[in-house]
Amino acid sequence: MMKIAMGNDHSAVEMKEAIKAYVESKGCEVIDFGTNSSASCDYPEYGEKVGRAVADGEADYGIAICGTGIGIGIAAGKVRGVRVCTCSEPYSARLSRMHNNTNVLTFGARVIGVEMAKMIVDEWLDNSYEGGRHERRVQMLGEIENRQ
Ligand code: RB5
Repeated sequence: MMKIAMGNDHSAVEMKEAIKAYVESKGCEVIDFGTNSSASCDYPEYGEKVGRAVADGEADYGIAICGTGIGIGIAAGKVRGVRVCTCSEPYSARLSRMHNNTNVLTFGARVIGVEMAKMIVDEWLDNSYEGGRHERRVQMLGEIENRQ
């Protein structure tokens, strides 16, 4: 069963609940890192948790949500081995899986609605990395990390 790490800040509790239920209905197991409170909190904490779960192999993929998807995506992407796709439409989500082998998806609860988020999740989860001509470029992304 595919395991999905999920995390969010206070702006995205409802969106997280809706997407968590949707992902579970697709047959995935969700590891929910919270927050589950509307009290103001800091998105870097939750982005890092999702990123680490994926990088450590605790989860296969991660989905992280904040107001814009930007901050939590920057945070997750700081974890070595994480490749983030922050998007507001399904085309980029699909191509980010097929070409960039992204392993964390983020989006903004204040930017898109639940139905658009579901379409994005479908394209991202239901497509596969193509490898081939993309492999060298994805490897180059890891080499950037190694040069830090
Ligand atoms: C919180 O107000 C907001 O800044 C956060 O959810 C996110 O949009 C940051 O990137």
